[in-house]
This record gives sequence, structure tokens and C-alpha cells, in this order.
Amino acid sequence: MKREIIITGDGSSTIHIPEWNEQYHSKHGALQEAKHVFIKTGLIPYISSSHKTEISILEIGFGTGLNALVTWEEASAQNTVVKYTGVEAYPVAQEEVDKLNFVEVLEDSEAENFFKNIHSSEWENEVEITPSFKLIKQQKFFQDIDDDQLYDLIYFDAFGARVQPELWSVEIFKKMFNALKNNGILVTYAAKGSVRRAMLEVGFGVERLPGPPGKREMLRATKII
Ligand SMILES: C[S@@+](CC[C@H](N)C(=O)[O-])C[C@H]1O[C@@H](n2cnc3c(N)ncnc32)[C@H](O)[C@@H]1O
Repeated sequence: MKREIIITGDGSSTIHIPEWNEQYHSKHGALQEAKHVFIKTGLIPYISSSHKTEISILEIGFGTGLNALVTWEEASAQNTVVKYTGVEAYPVAQEEVDKLNFVEVLEDSEAENFFKNIHSSEWENEVEITPSFKLIKQQKFFQDIDDDQLYDLIYFDAFGARVQPELWSVEIFKKMFNALKNNGILVTYAAKGSVRRAMLEVGFGVERLPGPPGKREMLRATKII
């Protein structure tokens, strides 16, 4: 499918898929959305409630690497070690990475190397990007995830249910539930009733929380056995 780089409302770039009229992040602001959904509502509360100094994260849709980048920034600021697994079936090409402006927008001198390295690092094996950030990129379909209690936190960042309804199903959320450790949390930008019901059906406790700019609500699901 054709992919093009666009600039979103906060000046940060993202990828647009014309055929689906769908973006990798919100048109209202890619960076704002990544920080709100995954960092402010996921990573920060998880670190403060669990008191863990090492956490493992699964990202559903590694894509442009923006969520990994903002995770590294926040985890470094909080002296937290991260093992980050990014699953992605259709990796972004180097010429697309070169056009993404996250490093300029973040104005963080250390971000440039980090961002370059997460994209150039090999797939399928754990790579130490920094001493406190280990990355495993796995090229596979979400449908093939069969992990058992490996992760503290899941960033569920699939394309919307409008274009990929099969990824917002009971079957997929069951896999996510199994992949999380007890007390683990899953955050997503989505807030649809059908998504919330699928999460509840597999056993998650689900909260509706304020969404990022341009979106009223989002969901956070907790695995409590
Ligand atoms: C909304 S984008 C993710 C954006 C990403 N988190 C970022 O920070 O740029 C959804 C991603 O899921 C990938 N994808 C779509 N269907 C998939 C599938 N069935 N299995 C694995 N990856 C898939 C797409 O290639 C895309 O990178």
C-alpha cells in the first residue's frame, strides 16, 4: 500500500495511507498523541504504581518508532530500564525514516543517535540501544503473537477498527491478556464500545480516560487475576 509522510497539527510528522485515509498517529499531533496515550496514561502511572526499576513493554505496531523514542526519553528521565519488543509486519523503509522529523521537533540532542539506531538495528534479536534500553524488533503478524506473561505494559497501536476490525477482536485481546504479567496494563488510543466490550470479555478491567487532543476518550485495560 502507498505510504506518504505528512505533517500533523503539532508540527511532528507521521505516515499517511491514502487508500485507507488512515495515519500512523493522530492528524491533530503525532507527538502529542504518543505522549498522551502511551507515556502519560501508560508508562508514567505504571512506573509510579509498580515501583519497578525495570519494565518490559510490547508495542503492537512498531511503525515509525515514535512511541519507542518517547518511551526512551521518559524512562531515562525516571532511571528506569526498558526491554522493548516492537512487533511489525510491514517495516518502514529507511528512506521514509529519513523524512520523519521527530528528532528536530523534540529538540533533544541525544535523540538523533537513538532514533537512527532503533531503525538500523537488526530484527529478531535483542539489541542494546543504550545500557538502559534494549530493543527486540519482531517482524510478524499480531495474529501470531503467543507470548505468555512476558510484559508489564502493552502499547496497542494498531490501525483503527474502521480499517482493520479483525485486530480489535476478542481473539487478539485474549492474546494480549495472556502476554501480560499479572497487574500489567494495556493502553490504546481507541475508545469504541465494541473494543471495550472485547477487552472486558477476555477478563480485563477497563477504564475510559480522557483522550489526546482531538479525541474525547481512550482506553486503559488492566490484567488483574
Ligand atoms: C498505527 S500504526 C503504528 C504506529 C507506531 N506505533 C508508531 O509509533 O509509528 C500500525 C502499524 O501496524 C502495522 N500492521 C498492520 N497490520 C498488522 C498486522 N496484522 N500484524 C503486524 N503489524 C501490522 C502497520 O504496518 C503499522 O506500522
